Amino acid sequence: MKRFCTALLLVLSLPAFADGPRLIQTAPGVRRWMNESEISELSRSAHLAGHCGGYMDVTIEPDRQPQPIAGLNEPIKPIPNQIATVAPMLREIAPQNLTATIARLMKFSTRHADTQTGVQAAHWIRDQFVLLANGRSDVTVSLFKNMGLRQPSVIARIEGSGALAKEVVILGAHEDTINHTQGGSKTGQAPGADDDASGIATLLEAFRIIAQSNHRPERSIEFIAYAGEELGLIGSRIIAMKYNDEKRIVRGVLQLDMTMYPGKTKKLHFITDYTNQKLTRFSQMLMDTYVKQPWSTSSCGYACSDHASWHDWKYPAVFPFETFMNGHNRAIHTPGDTLKLLDVEFGAHFAKLAIGFAVEMAND
Ligand code: BES
Ligand code: ZN
Repeated sequence: MKRFCTALLLVLSLPAFADGPRLIQTAPGVRRWMNESEISELSRSAHLAGHCGGYMDVTIEPDRQPQPIAGLNEPIKPIPNQIATVAPMLREIAPQNLTATIARLMKFSTRHADTQTGVQAAHWIRDQFVLLANGRSDVTVSLFKNMGLRQPSVIARIEGSGALAKEVVILGAHEDTINHTQGGSKTGQAPGADDDASGIATLLEAFRIIAQSNHRPERSIEFIAYAGEELGLIGSRIIAMKYNDEKRIVRGVLQLDMTMYPGKTKKLHFITDYTNQKLTRFSQMLMDTYVKQPWSTSSCGYACSDHASWHDWKYPAVFPFETFMNGHNRAIHTPGDTLKLLDVEFGAHFAKLAIGFAVEMAND
């Protein structure tokens, strides 16, 4: 009897996940419990109507509100000042590494967050971080579990040195994929080269170069591969919520989602909604200082990627994107999202921006 009660308690204390209904937010304040097929239909019909889903899974946070955190909104330094550290790093960027990472990730037939291959992809990314850290004692790599979702997020952290080490700068990309041609099914091929192996490749390359330099940042830097973005920003929302809960000072978050489809304009675009204006302005200066390529602005019109999770939890986020919104890669969420449509030399601009962002934001 005692065993039965313990088991029952355990079951009751878990939120209704995986097979059960989930709490889905379709607009600020608009929330409804939905089952898996209803959620699939929601995003399928949005895509058919020519726009994306833009819903969030808020199952584990129904009554939570962000708490204010002292020291969070300190001004960013006026201009980049780490050129002597950043410039040599930029020369290390190897576009063939970007290609190799994307090609490897595409081999998982799907990286859907509720599949075994989705879990294997997360483990592969974890293993890459460990290899690239090359035994550095100030680097830790960990899996971050998502209740009820098979795929964990992956966090690689370079510990800051000195008084600011408790503060953190975050770079992130999502590791999962989805195939919307089959209603979000878990079995359909979902290579996700652009969406978002491109972002993971950029993240790993930035980590490789920073970790292999002798640079010791003042603030800590975290490189995060988010689970379950395609299922409603699940991986990033739980991390943003936890960091707020722990009153962590996150100085800035860079989202890397779709970084290698050059489109017609071959121009990087800063997304202006669900992002922080000052951090975006600073990142535009990083473009001019380190990347020296044209850029513009655009907007998603909804919470289209993980930057929105951080924004909702009151952390400053920036989202540089590959094209203007209507010019984006139409092959995403289909078996046709492959390397063929991508340009890794264009993608290297994002790697430069990522390295500049990490080093500049981590040191005053
Ligand atoms: N990478 C996309 C977001 C995106 C697509 C941005 C096209 C700009 C242009 C992301 O992986 C995605 O698919 N997001 C979902 C929303 C999410 C909350 C389920 C979408 O846009 O439907
Ligand atoms: Zn997507």
